[in-house]
Amino acid sequence: MKFSTLEKTGAVILICAWIVWGTNAIGNVLVSVDEHEPVGYASTETDQEEVLTGEQETEVEEELDVAALMGAADPAAGEKAFGKCKACHTVDQGGANKVGPNLWNVVGREKAKTEGFDYSSALQELGGEWTYENLYKFLKDPKDYAPGNKMTFGGLKKSTDRADVIAYLREHSDSPPPLP
Ligand code: HEC
Repeated sequence: MKFSTLEKTGAVILICAWIVWGTNAIGNVLVSVDEHEPVGYASTETDQEEVLTGEQETEVEEELDVAALMGAADPAAGEKAFGKCKACHTVDQGGANKVGPNLWNVVGREKAKTEGFDYSSALQELGGEWTYENLYKFLKDPKDYAPGNKMTFGGLKKSTDRADVIAYLREHSDSPPPLP
């Protein structure tokens, strides 16, 4: 079984909550009423701090991951993985819009801007550019990234597949943007 970062964070928070509760329960038994309160408060604060630091570290790690993954990504492998997208997307310059928009120039370009394609409002309202990180998150779970969008695709589960596909898309551009 694989657990998402969210599930892992949730588990960590739960475990910390149990530790805090457990410490208090033991404290109640061991420490006299007068001394109890300060001990209880001190341990609660420390545990909360640990949870926060843990979350921040996870976020930083994800950012570094995208840069590192892009550095190691293989456009040729991306072409193969893009087989899953071909039913709906062309990627060559001047390619047709199919079920999904043509993807020439998509990396670094504004979102939802392929000419002549009728985007959902969910995608149009995202705003901003398709950065490496945005694409990485979108391709991991399109529905989660842009709820209500009409790309009916479950996402690429392997992080290396996502990076490879993005590297392949990057090459299909007038001037490929620099890697992160
Ligand atoms: C079942 C059809 C389908 C498949 C399969 C599919 N897409 Fe899409 N894709 C769409 C549609 C439809 C949209 C437009 C979504 C909207 O407007 O809500 C879209 C939008 C996109 C966009 C945003 C384009 C823009 O101009 O902002 C990207 C990037 C993208 N798809 C990449 C991919 C990649 C990479 C794959 C394969 C891993 C893939 N898609 C698989 C249908 C699909």
